[in-house]
Amino acid sequence: MEQYLLEMKNIHKRFPGVYALKGVNLCVRPGEVHAILGENGAGKSTLINILGGILQKDEGEIWINGRNEEIHGVLDARNYGINIIHQELVLVPYLTVAENIFINREETKHGLVDFAGMRRKAQRFIDELGLEIDAGQKIDALTVAQQQMVEIVKAVSFQARIIVMDEPTSSLSDKEITALFGCIKTLKARGIGIIYITHRLNELSEIADTITVLRDGASIITKPYREITNDEIVKYMVGREVTNYYTRTSHPIGEVALSVKNLSSAKVHGLNFEVRRGEILGFAGIVGAGRTEAMKAIVGLDEKTDGQIEINGKPIVIRRPADAYRLGIGYIPESRREEGIFPEQSVGFNMVIKVLDQFIKGVHLNKAKETEIIQRYIRELSVKTPSVDSFIKNLSGGNQQKVVISSWLASAPGILIMDEPTRGIDVGAKAEIYALMNDLAAHGIAIIMISSELPEIINMADRVMVMKDGRITKELLHDQLTQEEIMKYAVDI
Ligand SMILES: Nc1ncnc2c1ncn2[C@@H]1O[C@H](COP(=O)(O)OP(=O)(O)OP(=O)(O)O)[C@@H](O)[C@H]1O
Ligand SMILES: [Mg+2]
Repeated sequence: MEQYLLEMKNIHKRFPGVYALKGVNLCVRPGEVHAILGENGAGKSTLINILGGILQKDEGEIWINGRNEEIHGVLDARNYGINIIHQELVLVPYLTVAENIFINREETKHGLVDFAGMRRKAQRFIDELGLEIDAGQKIDALTVAQQQMVEIVKAVSFQARIIVMDEPTSSLSDKEITALFGCIKTLKARGIGIIYITHRLNELSEIADTITVLRDGASIITKPYREITNDEIVKYMVGREVTNYYTRTSHPIGEVALSVKNLSSAKVHGLNFEVRRGEILGFAGIVGAGRTEAMKAIVGLDEKTDGQIEINGKPIVIRRPADAYRLGIGYIPESRREEGIFPEQSVGFNMVIKVLDQFIKGVHLNKAKETEIIQRYIRELSVKTPSVDSFIKNLSGGNQQKVVISSWLASAPGILIMDEPTRGIDVGAKAEIYALMNDLAAHGIAIIMISSELPEIINMADRVMVMKDGRITKELLHDQLTQEEIMKYAVDI
């Protein structure tokens, strides 16, 4: 039998009120890409945090190269050749690539830090992986994708035998994903085992050798990828058949709710568009096209240099996000976990924070109404939490996002801007979010949706603005929407 690099056997983990892992098994061979799939809260991150020494298991065994080992901390994991690349990157922005790679183990020459030597060594690692990154560059000058590559280079420099990637592609453009996959193939060829967590099933065919599905903390199935279809995977993830994710319902479109004229900021130039009540207006384009920046300029997060915004036909001035909020513009940011939550507060608090004034009658909080709203969204978006009083920081990444989204839905704005609303969200909950969007639109709310997932935007949007390099390059109506048509205006061909 071929030797496994890693065998995690019968892993159990309990948190207060949550039985997060109930006997999970995971085996990885040299040169294998093993994808872990599962709904938000299924236990994926908990499992790899145990492997990485960040969490301690309650029960179970971890075998590395055929030996039963205990991983007591991050350093132990690293000594066993295990490296984890977390979704939130942890590089130091003002240091160079080389300094980041050798951080806390700086090499010295005659008692001084040997910057030139480190840089040469780092560059060699980079070149060997076929990457185009200059080891002397500062981290903050790199794209997110390049920073991720630096994390990989760093892992390789630690002689990693196993590299774990937790949702690595969630903020990458298609071109960057191709580069990442190229890099993964090089690692495979060197016999490194890769554990790959993703919610994007369509990328599995490119890289996955084996898949394991987790559901409610249990291993449901492990199979070679070529022996299973994506539809079957979804069925195992959700525990039921999910047929139609996209269900854009048709209904009348009303008056213009938001009109943007000649909007410019440092990052976007001369944008003109409007969105009507009951309409879902999509914004397509590659990462960096300026879609998020356009929305930030509208809601007062970025400074406008020019342009006029009208709501319901009246010119208005928005200087800061609070102005936008008061005028009925809801904004669900892309980086919800960083910008959207109060980590030290409860799930319930985070859900109703934006609508608290609705519940305050005189000085009495309308507790019943508040509880009703909270219970409704926990149910509709299937937010996985032990209770409404749990700290939001203890929820899985995707479930934190669901809470942020529901807090905006609860505030019932007239205009709702959603930046990548389903990124990091599992398939079952995606369908719920689409249903809620339809529901909001049917109630006359104007929705702007930025999305990099073409099938999503094609199916959900009534109309799409395509952006490239900070400008709108094309407006496409629903029946003109195809992947090819969008890409034609989103990239230089
Ligand atoms: N520190 C903690 N304290 C309490 N509960 C926790 C803690 N960390 C995770 N959990 C719970 O354990 C369960 C599994 O969470 P985990 O983060 O592993 O999910 P996941 O599969 O990575 O989900 P996602 O796709 O949303 O990232 C969830 O119910 C979560 O709320
Ligand atoms: Mg996770």
